[in-house]
Amino acid sequence: MAKNANLGAAKNAKNDEFYTQYADIQKEVNAYIEYNPDVFRGKTILLPCDDPEWSNFTKFFAQNFEFFGLKKLISTSYAIESKKYKTDWQPTLFETENPLYNVEKSRIKGKIFTLTHDTNNSGRIDIDDLQWSYLEGDGDFRSAEVTTLRDEADIIITNPPFSLFREFLAWIMEGKKQCLVIGNMNAITYKEVFPLIKNNELWLGVSSGSKTYITISGGIQTMGNTCWFTNIDHGRRHEPLKLMTMSDNLRFNKKMRGLTSYIHYDNYDAIEVPHVELIPCDYEGKMGVPVSFLDKYNPDQFEIIGLTANSETMDTPVQLGSAFMKDYREQGGTGHFSDNMYGVCYYDQEGNAKVPYGRIIIRKKQ
Ligand SMILES: C[S@@+](CC[C@H](N)C(=O)[O-])C[C@H]1O[C@@H](n2cnc3c(N)ncnc32)[C@H](O)[C@@H]1O
Repeated sequence: MAKNANLGAAKNAKNDEFYTQYADIQKEVNAYIEYNPDVFRGKTILLPCDDPEWSNFTKFFAQNFEFFGLKKLISTSYAIESKKYKTDWQPTLFETENPLYNVEKSRIKGKIFTLTHDTNNSGRIDIDDLQWSYLEGDGDFRSAEVTTLRDEADIIITNPPFSLFREFLAWIMEGKKQCLVIGNMNAITYKEVFPLIKNNELWLGVSSGSKTYITISGGIQTMGNTCWFTNIDHGRRHEPLKLMTMSDNLRFNKKMRGLTSYIHYDNYDAIEVPHVELIPCDYEGKMGVPVSFLDKYNPDQFEIIGLTANSETMDTPVQLGSAFMKDYREQGGTGHFSDNMYGVCYYDQEGNAKVPYGRIIIRKKQ
């Protein structure tokens, strides 16, 4: 393997091993409960990348088992030997002092933890009532064993390994399950993900942006670009975005200084809206907006036409074209663009050829 490929693989392996904080799970999940207090009632939840030794997902749902009215909580973990990131891991006393402990299985098998009732007669159902055993396999979510658990569950919730995010989401969709999962914001533009968002089969959760995670060594690391992906309804997506008229934006918003009208794309019939707050409330045509719009997207207010870089999602796929690219290069443009690259482009008020970064085309709901 080349040195860069090695470094990339090591980075990916490390990126798969960081853990979600309890408060972040609580904040997100509570928003769904506020919108629908019975959202989890009578449901089986599967946490398929979650060892309770590490995972706050298991702790959070076990502690709230009764309050949420869950039927069953299943949490599975991935065998230490199968993890790409190698550590000097040792089994905990919880495992070694348990009669089920098996020194051979400990490193190579996944584990399953289930919660259904008060097993220790404490008078309440909580994390101490989790029952566990080794899985037949290593706990890979793609295995037939964990897929059977997926099929038994109503809802899949976790922060999955980032390097397998596409596969993980496809696995959930294949099972036609409800989900609440953490991913990188860039996943919005994946060819496997954007069509789901466009068709309102998947949307962003309530809280996105910079969050801190627990690293494998127990430290705290900020990751600026993560968000929740879900197909469970929540209140934020029914709040209309508060917007001003086109003429008020042009008159009062500093970001529109020097413009007398919104810029129209050169290669597509839509206006360029460089910031979400500048979306005019009174424009009936198509608009190109930054991807961050999805964080504010209310499907009752707007429809999504497509992602300009993904020709299959667009009504009319558009490429930059040779005439535009000639102007762009002659003006000294050095971006990694080419004639047949898909995307919108425009000339600004000084006549400079511009290619805006990642645009989604939207239109006001009629
Ligand atoms: C980003 S971490 C998050 C862990 C936990 N869900 C949390 O949020 O704290 C992803 C976990 O998935 C595990 N994992 C990696 N590949 C897996 C696979 N194919 N199947 C199941 N789990 C896997 C990793 O070892 C890691 O523990």
